[in-house]
Amino acid sequence: MKERTLCIVKPDAMRKRVAGRILAMIEERGLVPVVARILTLAPGDAERFYAVHRERKFFPDLVRFMSSGPVLVAVLEGDEAIARWRDLMGPTDATKAPKGTIRGEFGTDVEKNAVHGSDAPETARAEIGFFFASLELPGATAGV
Ligand code: RTP
Ligand code: MG
Repeated sequence: MKERTLCIVKPDAMRKRVAGRILAMIEERGLVPVVARILTLAPGDAERFYAVHRERKFFPDLVRFMSSGPVLVAVLEGDEAIARWRDLMGPTDATKAPKGTIRGEFGTDVEKNAVHGSDAPETARAEIGFFFASLELPGATAGV
């Protein structure tokens, strides 16, 4: 089934200047970026975006990290895009991520792990709506 998912190239990967290589891996995997922009999250934006984690011990660090510099935000489209993007990203802890995954190639640790991906259709819809108006998305009806 054709899906859309949200991709964020996080500040650590932007600082390493590997956003282009990450986009190349996305394209090679057959996922298609349909809208994208570079922006810097205010701490309050990062708090809202990762609100599901607000009770976790790592939350203040995560908010500081995600608002520490520019990010590249993109909507990726393709068959089973949500699962395939998570698969290409690799596991959360970059030290355990296999080579060939984005986190394995470009991540540093469990926090500085290069990329974000939506984890389910409902979160993909909400996360895409967080960054992009439906009018920006080709062929979009009612948000996604
Ligand atoms: P994401 O939401 O960014 O795609 O990552 P994920 O699903 O693989 O992992 P999640 O559990 O949702 O965690 C969100 C992000 O929080 C940071 N984190 N830090 N210090 C820690 O123990 C820790 N654990 C998670 C990471 O940046 C993680 O991607
Ligand atoms: Mg997550």
